[in-house]
Amino acid sequence: MIPAPSYSLGLDGQCAWVLGASGAIGSVVAELLAAQGVTVFLSGRNKTKLDALQSIITQTGGRARVRVVDATRTNEVTLAASEIIRQSGKLNILVNATASSTFGEFLDLTDDDWERTFQSKLMVYVRSMRAVLPTMIKAGGGVIINISGKAGKLPSPAHLPGGSMNAAVNLLTKGISERYKDQGIRANTIAPGPIASARFDALAAQLVASPSANPVFMSRQGTPQDVAQAVAWLASSHAAHLHGIVLPLDGGAIPSV
Ligand SMILES: NC(=O)c1ccc[n+]([C@@H]2O[C@H](COP(=O)([O-])OP(=O)(O)OC[C@H]3O[C@@H](n4cnc5c(N)ncnc54)[C@H](OP(=O)(O)O)[C@@H]3O)[C@@H](O)[C@H]2O)c1
Repeated sequence: MIPAPSYSLGLDGQCAWVLGASGAIGSVVAELLAAQGVTVFLSGRNKTKLDALQSIITQTGGRARVRVVDATRTNEVTLAASEIIRQSGKLNILVNATASSTFGEFLDLTDDDWERTFQSKLMVYVRSMRAVLPTMIKAGGGVIINISGKAGKLPSPAHLPGGSMNAAVNLLTKGISERYKDQGIRANTIAPGPIASARFDALAAQLVASPSANPVFMSRQGTPQDVAQAVAWLASSHAAHLHGIVLPLDGGAIPSV
């Protein structure tokens, strides 16, 4: 289990829903939130991975529950949200960290490639926020943290579907923040650069083979722990005055403001 920071983030007793908890980043986010005393609902499609993560968390004293969801299906997301809220009686934190892996040269990508990327990222974030916002608003507040990516600001020609979704997530999250900040909602985005993961290995292989490889995009790797620490801090009251930001988490790779 991820060690808790030596200072308290004050998240003990809260409830979080992590979509993408079977993934490289989401799993570590879930572990770190659980280490902070948060009850974490773990979602994705891969039950085996989610069960394994739940075991790790519970064996080390944390609280986690598995809720398998294919988040490309609106009814599954809506049902999962209502069950989580019914079981826990509240939902303080939503973390969206899903994606499919669609890499390749623009001329090789099909409509299906674009559609899959749209459905597994932007629309997942839309569906989950739509499903939890009424409860958060009714409770007087809540925190939403959406994971986008550096390619939303710095285009990588071999990663245009994912980069386009990241740019859309940045804008969507800012819009949600604007719309609901007066109702206690804090919505922020984290835009990681390359993070040590199978997902990045797949992208790197594509980029190396690409005539349009972008050396800045290939900059030094962070870790899922780097992202998780940022998520936990953003979720806490230490970040209470932060609304609608896009936090670059890329080791300083983007050479612009
Ligand atoms: N890794 C990087 O270098 C990097 C860099 C910048 C941004 N990001 C972003 O960070 C986020 C997480 O990336 P990652 O590296 O952790 O990716 P990952 O390891 O490939 O994990 C992707 C997650 O998305 C979930 N997912 C995909 N389709 C889904 C669906 N239809 N329903 C429910 N869950 C679904 C997967 O769960 P199942 O397979 O169980 O369905 C998995 O948990 C993504 O948004 C990615 O774009 C990653």
